Amino acid sequence: MKNKSLVSIDDLSTDEILKILDLAEEFEHDPVRKLLEGKVIATLFFEPSTRTRLSFESAVNRLGGKIVGFADASYSSVSKGETLKDTILTVNNYCDLIVMRHPIEGSARYASEIASVPVINAGDGANQHPTQTMLDLFSIRKTQGTLDNLNIFMVGDLKYGRTVHSLVMAMSRWNTTFNFIAPEELKMPDEFKLYLENLGLKYYEHNDFTEIISKADIIYMTRVQKERFSDPMEYEKVKNVYVLKNSMLKDTKQNMRVLHPLPRVNEIHIDVDNNPKAYYFEQALNGVYTRQAILCSLLGIKQP
Ligand code: CP
Repeated sequence: MKNKSLVSIDDLSTDEILKILDLAEEFEHDPVRKLLEGKVIATLFFEPSTRTRLSFESAVNRLGGKIVGFADASYSSVSKGETLKDTILTVNNYCDLIVMRHPIEGSARYASEIASVPVINAGDGANQHPTQTMLDLFSIRKTQGTLDNLNIFMVGDLKYGRTVHSLVMAMSRWNTTFNFIAPEELKMPDEFKLYLENLGLKYYEHNDFTEIISKADIIYMTRVQKERFSDPMEYEKVKNVYVLKNSMLKDTKQNMRVLHPLPRVNEIHIDVDNNPKAYYFEQALNGVYTRQAILCSLLGIKQP
């Protein structure tokens, strides 16, 4: 895995994914170690972020590395007209690895092709978010005790949601049954349904999930992403179509867990937060351990 970029979840074999999850478990038990001493990680965020950027930075700090970068491209020379290519060719002189979030699909792949250091895609438009998927897999395995044969409900913005796109590709390796719940305008794109069909996997599409909620092992809620709509009226039509409320969870499986990549707007009512089945803030914490494991794996740093 050394010196490899992580742009799509399919850049990792199943064996590599499982090794990273096992390593993340070790970091969960012992997160403060000086494994990145002398390493510099660049975090280039061309789009806003709380969890991804800060959990990467927390991961690096806890491992004794240093961070350079920007949280807002308007403070970089991009605001003077510098191209992405020139930015990457410059920044890769200053660091050992680049973490990049960018609004344009394919930008992370492009950056990985010109950079001399590994590039981690921290989200490229509506395309992929592979490190989110790694922490989602970690959270699913931790709460369910397995990744095999689970029934996953994905709810909300399945069209523009990069987290669900990456997660579908990842979970397809473990004989998952997928239930996609979205309004007509935000359905799972055909390319991901075709991906599952080619693997012979089952998926079902619904407009509502109240009648079938008792079958879920994981309910993966997502935000309708206002920033991806060109017409504000289209966003207004769909923004509150699904709101998960505590009362809806009463007939769900004992071990079912509610996940959400966050940020949330209205799609999970705050009355769910104190339900033991709500797992989204622990899920965000798992981002630190999985990102520690990803950084060490891509930099070829072995455990002492
Ligand atoms: N889940 C996620 O990507 O959150 P942020 O946008 O806050 O990084």
